[in-house]
Amino acid sequence: MTQAKQALADLARKLDRANKAYHTDDAPEIDDAQYDALKKRNAAIEKRFPDLKRSDSPSDQIGAAPATGFGKITHRVSMLSLANAFDDEDVTEFDASVRKYLGLEPTAPLSYTAEPKIDGLSLSLRYENGILVEAATRGDGTVGENVLANARTIEDIPHQLQSAPEVLEVRGEVYMSHADFDALNARHTAQGGKPFANPRNAAAGSLRQLDAEITRARPLRFFAYAWGDLSAPLADTQMGAIDRLGDLGFSINPLTTLCDGPSEMVSHYARIESQRATLGYDIDGVVYKVDNLELQRRLGFRSNTPRWAIAHKFPAELAWTRLEGIDIQVGRTGALSPVARLHPVTVGGVVVSNATLHNEDYIRGFDSKGTEIRGGKDIRVGDWVQVYRAGDVIPKVADVDLSKRPVEATEFKFPEICPECQSDAIREPGDAVRRCSGGLICPAQAVEKLKHLVSRAAFDIDGLGSKQVEQFYADGWIAEPADIFTLQERYSSGLQQLKNREGWGEKSASALFAAIEDKRKIPIARLLFGLGIRHVGEAASNLLARHYGTWPALAEAMQDARGCDGPAWDDLIAIDGVGAVMAGSLVNAFAQDAERESIERLVEQLDVQEAQRVDTSGSPVAGKTVVFTGTLEKMTRAEAKARAERLGAKVSGSVSAKTDLLVAGPGAGSKAKKAAELGIETLDEDGWLDLIKDA
Ligand code: IVH
Repeated sequence: MTQAKQALADLARKLDRANKAYHTDDAPEIDDAQYDALKKRNAAIEKRFPDLKRSDSPSDQIGAAPATGFGKITHRVSMLSLANAFDDEDVTEFDASVRKYLGLEPTAPLSYTAEPKIDGLSLSLRYENGILVEAATRGDGTVGENVLANARTIEDIPHQLQSAPEVLEVRGEVYMSHADFDALNARHTAQGGKPFANPRNAAAGSLRQLDAEITRARPLRFFAYAWGDLSAPLADTQMGAIDRLGDLGFSINPLTTLCDGPSEMVSHYARIESQRATLGYDIDGVVYKVDNLELQRRLGFRSNTPRWAIAHKFPAELAWTRLEGIDIQVGRTGALSPVARLHPVTVGGVVVSNATLHNEDYIRGFDSKGTEIRGGKDIRVGDWVQVYRAGDVIPKVADVDLSKRPVEATEFKFPEICPECQSDAIREPGDAVRRCSGGLICPAQAVEKLKHLVSRAAFDIDGLGSKQVEQFYADGWIAEPADIFTLQERYSSGLQQLKNREGWGEKSASALFAAIEDKRKIPIARLLFGLGIRHVGEAASNLLARHYGTWPALAEAMQDARGCDGPAWDDLIAIDGVGAVMAGSLVNAFAQDAERESIERLVEQLDVQEAQRVDTSGSPVAGKTVVFTGTLEKMTRAEAKARAERLGAKVSGSVSAKTDLLVAGPGAGSKAKKAAELGIETLDEDGWLDLIKDA
């Protein structure tokens, strides 16, 4: 008995030492097999003598692995991404836009933090009463995966905090150091495994292991740089909040600095860039954030990026290789996209064999405005080309070396008919892209639309991915979106049954039917995004959903906006984030009979959920239509509009019978007159601020 107790104490000490050597010092003292043997012995003794199990037992330090998959977590505060700056001028413009939004003079003091942008994956850690209770990946920004058991194996992540706010969500980046990455790959390949392409992939793969034991054996690290839900503010400034996170026990990046304005920001950028190669971990730029948190609050967010921060990216990585061919792909909106088939080449640690060539003008040596690029050099099959890769973006062909051009290389002739359906491929004036005119008859467009519809940000149907969609389409089982929802009706019994198809069995077939059934109930924003209408992305779909609320309201408004003028059209383009091009594309989709009917057939199969409106409880202006006119003195027009929208109001540019409230500053002219004629309530700026002060 005492022997067992002694053995457990001994094992706890050894394992603790091994952990520290491995995770903190990057200097493992024992190998994985030895480590595992210690863990096993510890577990075996504990099993025989459960009463002797220590309170700091090494078995408990990992956390149990979830049995199947990861649970989903809806972020209480969305996890957003950052807008990018690529040069010094973009940084100056960022500062100018912040000042403009806040109505600050160019000379007014305004500081920013500058810190490395870590090339890993973001993670949100929730602490309640100081205890780590949730760890969520970013996912789609709204819903992530719960990887708590895995996060608990990361040494940089405290399990408990002293004197933290009751609720604290700490956000930051999980990453892997170069040394750990090299060692991991060496171990992996020695065991016959495939090496990871880069530390970010290794970190992502390691964090999303279903078995937390595996994550534990992968040396992940974590830098805290932001926060989500909070019961009490951490500080008044970004810098203060980061320091506070440091005091609470998180790793914070030592290169975080306070800057007085754009010139200090870009010089800190240069300093960080010069240290990039020796930092020991991957970074892909510098992030600037407005330091004052009250100003951050006022600036708020665009649909999915904050107005108060920007990522200044490092220049992309380059490599030269042979262009072996140019393929034309037809996308969901009919765009003919030239894809470069390259002799495989490593660019910044990733093997690249395909790259985009954008469009026909780009191949000819012109940009979309007709201006020469690359000194007017065209790109030909057989050419020696420069490939360029920046972070996550699709690699591009950037340049061509004419001295290495084979004599037989001929100018590339861009097809004028669709390679998929032989319809004419047309370029509208002002459009850089040639598009197939086949619409729904083009199999490539139809199939790409279907793939888009089932994709993760749209209907997200488990078991129905690109491959399955292609198969079903090829066999004529699914020709348009509505067919997905009648699949079970048509193919669950009878001669042709899904379960009898190659690759499908009883279980997978019924799982697919269940997954489809599950998505009949669909939020309006996902449906709209899923339709794959040109220019209507995820963010815009959310805006439109929140604006119109219900599907019938949206569909009716699109019909009413036909012809692109009148009140319905004005209302559409008044939505912050919806421009005339997007609006035109939307209205057009609903104006074409074939497309509208296909949408209607789909909607008939669905139970479309109203948009979840922003929490406007207690807002005196929720659902009201507000118009601002004249000069505002305490805030800019953009700020006033964003604030009103946050409170659930619709902000419109013109006064009509639908207007509920006019906010008129000095110099208000015809709008104030019209509002008076229509008997619409009118407030001055102070009246407005007073109205919303408690909301
Ligand atoms: S701040 C509201 N700071 O970059 C914005 N992000 O492109 C919160 N990232 O999703 C993000 N280093 O995964 C911030 N120092 C840093 C960062 C950083 C890396 C990542 C993060 C984010 C992505 C945006």
